[in-house]
Amino acid sequence: MSDFLPTDLRDTPIQAPPLPGKIVAREDPEAVFDALSADLLLHAHNCVHTFGSFHLALSGGSTPMPLYQQLMYDPRYRGLPWKQTHLWMVDERRVPFDHELSNFRQIKEIIVDHTDMPATNVHPMQTSLADPAADYEKTYREILSSRPKGQDRLDYVLLGMGDNGHTASLFPHTQVLEQRTRFVDYCDGPTVTPPPRITLTYLAINAARFVAVLVLGEKKAPMLQRVATGTETYQDLPIKGVHPLSGEFAWYVDRAACETKSA
Ligand code: 6PG
Repeated sequence: MSDFLPTDLRDTPIQAPPLPGKIVAREDPEAVFDALSADLLLHAHNCVHTFGSFHLALSGGSTPMPLYQQLMYDPRYRGLPWKQTHLWMVDERRVPFDHELSNFRQIKEIIVDHTDMPATNVHPMQTSLADPAADYEKTYREILSSRPKGQDRLDYVLLGMGDNGHTASLFPHTQVLEQRTRFVDYCDGPTVTPPPRITLTYLAINAARFVAVLVLGEKKAPMLQRVATGTETYQDLPIKGVHPLSGEFAWYVDRAACETKSA
């Protein structure tokens, strides 16, 4: 809990915007990470209990990195079943693995290198191939097909949201937003923050058993309000295309992301 907030603000209930799904609003990022990690731990164990495995897809971006660190060093989350976990990437920049912008590089350094996850359970997007999206699609279908029909989907997808309303690498007014048959595709065009991307599509994300969106900080507050109350479409604000078909949908937000400052 932040000690730096004035007492009157700390005592005011957080007014989260009316987002679709469950809203988990906490005072500060640390409290949000705690809530998310506790839910993740429970969900991971339920999946391992039911299916013998846990398929987890993680996003890049700056927001979740301290969360990933906490999952590694906080004793409360030591029980995460890494050995039974398959790690997937939500999206990736089309750069080599050792590039500073590689999502996988960061997630490997923070998580993969410090767990007992079998190497065969780690699924980076193979950016050096000629057609990495087709390769990832094949891997996704092959590995998940070992699950019973209907359960052959990701168990947990962690998303972020850009201040332009993008999520994963689903950027405004790009072709990938209309992709309805593939689980993985490319995203490029004038609205994309370079370099070009590879991304899970709505098909993969909305099929997931649990979709969490982590949004922190005052910079994201105006967009969060627009997503909750505006009339824009998923083409304008791709995060609006996220609505799990038969999975849980939860937003993890801090006070700063919930409160827009009046002019
Ligand atoms: C990525 C993401 C992307 C991210 C948002 C928010 O690899 O960049 O998957 O969708 O979640 O851009 O990024 P920040 O957390 O840096 O604000």
